[in-house]
Amino acid sequence: MQARLSEMERLAPGRGAVGADHWNAPGRARRFSVAVGATAERDPLFARLRWATGRRSTVVDVGAGTGRFTLALAPRVDEIVAVDASRAMLAVLRRAARQQGATNVRVVEGRWEDVELGALAPADVVVCSYVLPLIAEAEPFLARMDATCRHRAFVYLNAMSSDALVDPFWRHFHGAPRRAAPTYLDAAAILTDLGVEPDVEVVEVPTRTRFPDLRAAARSYAEALVLPDTPAVRAELRSLLSGWLVEDGGALRPPVRSTPAAILSWAGRAEG
Ligand SMILES: C[S@@+](CC[C@H](N)C(=O)[O-])C[C@H]1O[C@@H](n2cnc3c(N)ncnc32)[C@H](O)[C@@H]1O
Repeated sequence: MQARLSEMERLAPGRGAVGADHWNAPGRARRFSVAVGATAERDPLFARLRWATGRRSTVVDVGAGTGRFTLALAPRVDEIVAVDASRAMLAVLRRAARQQGATNVRVVEGRWEDVELGALAPADVVVCSYVLPLIAEAEPFLARMDATCRHRAFVYLNAMSSDALVDPFWRHFHGAPRRAAPTYLDAAAILTDLGVEPDVEVVEVPTRTRFPDLRAAARSYAEALVLPDTPAVRAELRSLLSGWLVEDGGALRPPVRSTPAAILSWAGRAEG
């Protein structure tokens, strides 16, 4: 992950920081919440979480973001702790929890690696969705998940990097392949080093990405491709994207209906 972060930092100084500052940028939390949806009730991981939890379960959602898993689980468990490094993402989560009347959601702001959980840990189930590839040092991160979990831990992440989808665009603008992001196989190898043999399941997740028009799509892909936000770049992207995106119900979407995601799960080793 370090090589990839350095590459981003070189292409756009400040962008190598994908921590709280990134997620706190104006409007990003709200856009993220719209893009992923308010609730994960129909996500394949949710079915596994339902199976692993019951009315008396305690849960920690690591890097909870705007709370799609926290909010879906809250009515089904005793208590859920949403940990996230970004104040803006947690603000969206808090508001939604209030609207939902979820009184069993505790919100803790901080990096998972060093946040104080006190009596909120250990928990029966620990879940971490779409966070691990953003973490520079995955081993202590995963070790803490294992040490915080009594019953079952879940790590959820892409099984096909979105890099694969936009690779031709990346090569077009940067003239070289992108530094690879860590994959679920790297996560599985780290867990094995920690003495954990994770179950690995690959599921298909419907693509939710939609853009109201080409302009919005170009803005989003310019950011994903770490390109300078100039009129020339936007015009070129619009021209490339116009032949690639497909129309779907009055919106534009990438030409894939679903992408694979991996669910790594294991029996946590926390005591108490
Ligand atoms: C892609 S979002 C995923 C949010 C949510 N888990 C989901 O699946 O919708 C990544 C989230 O991880 C959080 N994050 C990144 N690094 C973190 C860390 N070291 N500790 C806690 N949260 C972190 C970010 O603030 C952001 O809210």
